[in-house]
Amino acid sequence: MKLSLKSENNALKVNKLTKKYALKSQNKEIIALNEVSFSIDKGSMVALLGPNGAGKSTLINILAGITNKSSGKAFINGFDLDKSVNKAKLSIGVVPQELVMDPYFTPRETLNFQSGYYGVKKKNYITEKLLEKLSLKDKSDSYVRYLSGGMKRRLMIAKAMVHNPPILILDEPTAGVDVNLRQTLWDSIKELNRRGTTILLTTHYLEEAENLCKDVVMINKGEIVVQGEIKKLLKNIDHKSVNIYIENQIKKLPEELTNFGFSLKNENYFLLDYKPSEISMENILNIILKNNIKIKDIVTNEPSLEDLFNNLVE
Ligand SMILES: Nc1ncnc2c1ncn2[C@@H]1O[C@H](COP(=O)(O)OP(=O)(O)O)[C@@H](O)[C@H]1O
Ligand SMILES: [Mg+2]
Repeated sequence: MKLSLKSENNALKVNKLTKKYALKSQNKEIIALNEVSFSIDKGSMVALLGPNGAGKSTLINILAGITNKSSGKAFINGFDLDKSVNKAKLSIGVVPQELVMDPYFTPRETLNFQSGYYGVKKKNYITEKLLEKLSLKDKSDSYVRYLSGGMKRRLMIAKAMVHNPPILILDEPTAGVDVNLRQTLWDSIKELNRRGTTILLTTHYLEEAENLCKDVVMINKGEIVVQGEIKKLLKNIDHKSVNIYIENQIKKLPEELTNFGFSLKNENYFLLDYKPSEISMENILNIILKNNIKIKDIVTNEPSLEDLFNNLVE
């Protein structure tokens, strides 16, 4: 028996993945991805988070087989992209950022056509299942041009799934999508994950990553800056922020407080951005009481992905 690499436990695994774009006209090279390594467990839902230009689309285009990598390894559902490109490709569906579909087709026709394109045998078409899964049943036979923006997006997801891939990759699924629509899309994506599809989505919305995903891979300028479980990462942030509202108006803060980063916002409250490793809440309260400042209310702000991101990305 031949022992294979352990990568089959992962839905996706990349190792030192590098992409360089040669800009011949300017005689220079852009390193879009620089030795990126991470893996994603089967069944999980992970956000690939990063600002514009970070390398997110490049990464997923490599996984989708649209862009060639410069070096490194990529495994999709255990299949080595170098050795089993077809099996690798059949294991993922990719939803691109832009809407690409024929407005004169109906959703049913679109999905049947796409199934044929993927070489799925007619008896194995899952068009009806997909229409139902993505709440498009009612509009199965309307022209795509009459669908709402949200329906078009859901049809894009269905289109990426005609070959029933275990892994779905979405590139900025809600970029430019209005707030109400975003929630319905999130619900659809969550439902797919609940039913077993592994999902990797790229986003530059921190809120989206926090709402949808348990795990995050943050990239910036082609390199991973942090990866892991969002909850754990947030717990480890050595930064808290608290607003303290006061009874007796004051003009100036005691020095002991300004030393730790307190600032007086106005006569009624002050804000503290502090590092719990440097000062505890108990210490803070003691200083306040010692200086005869009467507290009316305390509002603490939980650290968010945004804090984490800002700490890591300048
Ligand atoms: N086809 C290309 N040719 C040259 N440079 C590219 C190409 N595609 C992307 N880039 C560059 O690679 C970097 C990463 O881009 P991209 O992967 O699109 O980032 P993101 O999706 O995170 O916004 C950027 O600097 C971008 O300008
Ligand atoms: Mg992109």
